[in-house]
Amino acid sequence: MNPPAGPVPPGGPGTPLLEIRDLKIGIRGHPAVDGLSFSMEEAEILGIVGESGCGKSLTALSIPLLLPEAASVTGGSIRYRGRELSALGERELRKIRGREIAMVFQEPRASLNPLLRIGKQIAEALELHGERNKARLRQQALDLMDSLGLREGEKILSLYPHQLSGGMCQRVMIAMAMICGPRLLIADEPTTALDLGIQAQILELLRQINRETGTAILFISHDLSVIEALCHRVLVMYAGKLVERGPVGELFARPAHEYTRGLLGAIPGPRSRGRPLANIGGRVPPIEEKRPPGCPFAPRCPRALPRCVRAFPPEIALGRGHSAACVRAADSDEGGR
Ligand SMILES: Nc1ncnc2c1ncn2[C@@H]1O[C@H](COP(=O)(O)OP(=O)(O)OP(=O)(O)O)[C@@H](O)[C@H]1O
Ligand code: SF4
Ligand SMILES: [Mg+2]
Repeated sequence: MNPPAGPVPPGGPGTPLLEIRDLKIGIRGHPAVDGLSFSMEEAEILGIVGESGCGKSLTALSIPLLLPEAASVTGGSIRYRGRELSALGERELRKIRGREIAMVFQEPRASLNPLLRIGKQIAEALELHGERNKARLRQQALDLMDSLGLREGEKILSLYPHQLSGGMCQRVMIAMAMICGPRLLIADEPTTALDLGIQAQILELLRQINRETGTAILFISHDLSVIEALCHRVLVMYAGKLVERGPVGELFARPAHEYTRGLLGAIPGPRSRGRPLANIGGRVPPIEEKRPPGCPFAPRCPRALPRCVRAFPPEIALGRGHSAACVRAADSDEGGR
């Protein structure tokens, strides 16, 4: 696996790998992500968790400027190693997408070309990064498969995507994402479609990549147990807003936002995707619905107070990088595990 060696110079000492400030994403005039701010350090594994429709994928796609046509960034700033991404030209952006920031998605099979053998697809990705020699291409493809725990590399290279299991396809996608030695890997629900055993293997692979190459990972999931197993730090999103953040151990031991407490109570699995939380009624409001000014979770919150609906609650710092935008954040540890 290649360590990061991309063309963008660092922004100077102390500059985060990624710095997002007051990000707003709209879909046909409706706010889908609203005032999101966070940063990521080099080599960090940062999770984003929230129910279906909270704006996780839009946030992820906005970083390499790959939002779907219907969506657009309507405000805020996205800085990668100190450089504002929206200010870059298409050529520079393409370089960053190819060499610095890579993405893997939930449906690996959909991202592979069904008509080309795996070997050909990997070779094409390697060629994009400058390798022309056929024998070396093949050896590099095999080495890559090997380093990512794909045994029987020779055989896999000769197969078509439909001949591989979902877990194998995801390994191949991750292998291809790692070819350029990215500094940042964005993984949007990469294990959601997989069986639990395979899911654990993919998480181990991501851990290994992070350990061995120092590639930072922005890992998106609706499943808190997966986030807990992999991430150093986590952001909790609800209805387009960041409602809680903190180191994983701290946030899981002392969840402070009522939404996070609800999520932890539910511990959703792959089959709960898109369903309401078991122990909290209601669901994430669709973006077309007018959102009241206060806490977006108030209509579902079992402990809401009258003041919760007046204005969006300020983020309360709880120490050690843990904070929550909930008026009851400092109340007690009730609801923790
Ligand atoms: N291409 C699109 N066209 C219209 N609405 C969209 C589009 N993409 C996202 N949305 C809407 O924007 C909101 C946020 O979507 P997003 O995909 O970011 O959610 P998510 O948190 O990733 O959810 P999931 O867990 O289901 O993947 C949702 O209400 C969704 O319906
Ligand atoms: S701010 Fe109020 S409504 Fe929102 S989660 Fe906290 S207690 Fe519940
Ligand atoms: Mg999504």
